[in-house]
Amino acid sequence: MNLKGKRILLGVTGSIAAYKSAFLTRLLVKSGAEVQIIMSASALDFITPLTLSTLSKRPVYSEFSDKKTGEWTNHVELGLWADLFIIAPASANTIGKFANGLCDNLLSATYLSARCPVMMAPAMDLDMYQHPSVRTNLEKLTSFGNLILDAESGELASGLSGQGRMMEPEHILHHVERFFSTSKEFSGKKVLVTLGPTQEALDPVRFISNHSSGKMGLAIAKAFQSKGAEVHVVSGPVSIPLEKEGFHLYPIRSAQEMYEASSKLHALMDICVFTAAVADYAPATVAPEKIKKSDPTLSLDLVKNVDIAFELGKNKKPNQIHVGFALETENEEANAKAKMQKKNFDLVVLNSTKEEGAGFQHDTNKVKIFSKTGPVVQSELLPKSAIAKMILNEVKKLPVWV
Ligand code: CTP
Repeated sequence: MNLKGKRILLGVTGSIAAYKSAFLTRLLVKSGAEVQIIMSASALDFITPLTLSTLSKRPVYSEFSDKKTGEWTNHVELGLWADLFIIAPASANTIGKFANGLCDNLLSATYLSARCPVMMAPAMDLDMYQHPSVRTNLEKLTSFGNLILDAESGELASGLSGQGRMMEPEHILHHVERFFSTSKEFSGKKVLVTLGPTQEALDPVRFISNHSSGKMGLAIAKAFQSKGAEVHVVSGPVSIPLEKEGFHLYPIRSAQEMYEASSKLHALMDICVFTAAVADYAPATVAPEKIKKSDPTLSLDLVKNVDIAFELGKNKKPNQIHVGFALETENEEANAKAKMQKKNFDLVVLNSTKEEGAGFQHDTNKVKIFSKTGPVVQSELLPKSAIAKMILNEVKKLPVWV
């Protein structure tokens, strides 16, 4: 597989297997990947940075700052740059640090700040590899979502024979290729996400709106994009930065504008996710001038807004998927299921209104996902990015998709 355009951080730690990281670098570069290497201090005893920088065609980093220039090596930037972080070889010491949040070198600081998936290829003596402390640390790392590339068996540097050899570079490459091929499972799909609140004008300076931040919609849009989809975002006024994400962006204000923008796109979309908190009512008339406070009371005449999800649901084609959200304060499940029927959703995501930290404005959410075809899925209180992944997983299980 071609890894062209893929950005890989390769962490090299102190182990006799460090020489194999040169082979791995060469394989990755040959496949088209950009490889940035970070070495731990003890790795420098096993292989020179010159070898690795020549093979990777980039400078190799091992210190928080360059001693000559005083320039800081930005570990946060390195972590954000990468699509994948591989630590090969991963020594018992580094594994212990990563599992316990220790951060005394550039490599461990980069690990803690990286947002991309992480793979580790442990390398050590067989008894070290089986030691309960190492096993516990590896289990911990697995629970963080890191992929452990099991050590292989064979002759070890100690002269003993058993499991502890770093996975062969060709086998690591195979895992990397598999990672990138399954990670683009929405490639070629077009996804519409409505997000944020709508604003319904009263006069030239005032409007009716709600507290939606658009964060859940942004998490879903990013999740689809990271899996290869072409993402179209119809967004109400939000303060989250959407411009830098590379979506097709359609900023709107009112429910009517959101409807118009979404219906133009609808026929071309494979998947539509309605996360917007659309205002249900709008002032019947918009005053042409600022309303003056002349009377002691003011009554507003409101009229029902168009229900975007309902209207587009009427035109849903058999190969299209619609995902809706529901916010209920009573008879939650029954109301959510009724919304799924009424609006022709394939999935409906019920927001919890009772959980501290869930819903509007928060970075976390707790949801129940109802499917037309599958069982109910209940989440814990999780970052919205993790909830977005759960929703994508449920989309993949739908018969249209399968
Ligand atoms: N929705 C929409 N257009 C509207 C209202 C809602 O597209 N005018 C979408 C929302 O984006 C969400 C779903 O419909 O995916 C349900 O929204 P919700 O506000 O829970 O339900 P309503 O239909 O507004 O019903 P009610 O407020 O009476 O519960």
